[in-house]
Amino acid sequence: MTAVVTGIGGFLPPRTVTNDDLSRTLDTTDEWIRTRTGIRERRVVSDGLSTGTLAVEAGARALRSAGAQGVDAVVVATTSPDRLCPAVAPEVAFRLGLGTVAAFDLTSACSGFLYGLATAAGLIGSGTADTVLFIGSEAFTTLVDPRDRATAPIFGDGAGAVVLRRGEMGEPGALGPFDLGSDGALADLLAIPAGGSRQRSSDGGPGHGTVPEADWYLRMDGRPLYTQAVERMTQSAQAVLKRTDWSVADVDWFVGHQANIRIVRAVAEELALPEERVAVNIDRVGNTLSASVPLLLNDYAARGDLKPGQRVLLCAFGAGLSWGSTVLVWPDIHAEPVE
Ligand code: UT7
Repeated sequence: MTAVVTGIGGFLPPRTVTNDDLSRTLDTTDEWIRTRTGIRERRVVSDGLSTGTLAVEAGARALRSAGAQGVDAVVVATTSPDRLCPAVAPEVAFRLGLGTVAAFDLTSACSGFLYGLATAAGLIGSGTADTVLFIGSEAFTTLVDPRDRATAPIFGDGAGAVVLRRGEMGEPGALGPFDLGSDGALADLLAIPAGGSRQRSSDGGPGHGTVPEADWYLRMDGRPLYTQAVERMTQSAQAVLKRTDWSVADVDWFVGHQANIRIVRAVAEELALPEERVAVNIDRVGNTLSASVPLLLNDYAARGDLKPGQRVLLCAFGAGLSWGSTVLVWPDIHAEPVE
């Protein structure tokens, strides 16, 4: 028994920020951002949009794609929740008209979609749920310092979702074995210091002093992260392939987390995967953390590049550090373009 993908959906906020827009306020250029990251533009929340509202939109599209009226559980992977408490998933379930089903959030930064797929598959495998709506949703640009040229160009907002149902291994859409891993020794390479219980983001009341403004925002040590990303994604992808009966030559599409085009290409090179089998949309969306992999799947499926029956290798890496991979044969489902 396993979880089978029966629907997919994505949503991007309407506001586009180009590299030229950024270079008006930051000491950067379109050329630097494009050549170092592959990003040309990204979508950014505005007008009251947040992780919750993006999740509702993507979730509604995934439910429509699956032809599902209801599900037994809603899981949202996010590292930019609407509020520290409560989880956003119950409100998303309510706003989608899904009633009082099980609903919770999961935090695993850019590998959130892989961890979430494994969690949703676990809910199904344990008999807790027959169907799950799983959404990766992020308004992470709200947590990035707009004055920091090292991080501001990299991230974008968006949401991607899948509907999963109970099924059998070997069916199209069945999620394969998983490989998941973490290295907390390197947690500080990508972190937001304040806002949690260790260091609240405001004065915190009498006697707590003032938190430096920089601690409210993401801090990233890009170079070591880059090296880790290439290494961990390559190892994780190899580990998951080893647990299936697939060789690299069997993979029709490598759908890897879009952190940096150079990372995606370096992993593909390590795996000996030709460029034409590597899915890419970072140029239009940037790094959308847990929404990255489902938005990429939705894009390729919606324009017919990802076809039913094709073999897909999913792989992600992010803060934590954390990483994960799985495989599936793409099912015959409808995907709407996000634009
Ligand atoms: O989502 C998963 C987790 N995230 C990642 O995996 C991110 C991994 N890291 C990366 O993708 C890359 O390290 C970055 C895109 C973040 C940075 O690229 P890089 O090629 O590693 O550049 P760098 O940080 O080594 O900086 C090179 C130069 C520096 O100048 P100097 O010291 O050589 O004079 C930076 O100050 O580029 C400078 N720089 C910039 N210049 C123009 C850094 N950011 C910018 C910028 N515009 N936006």
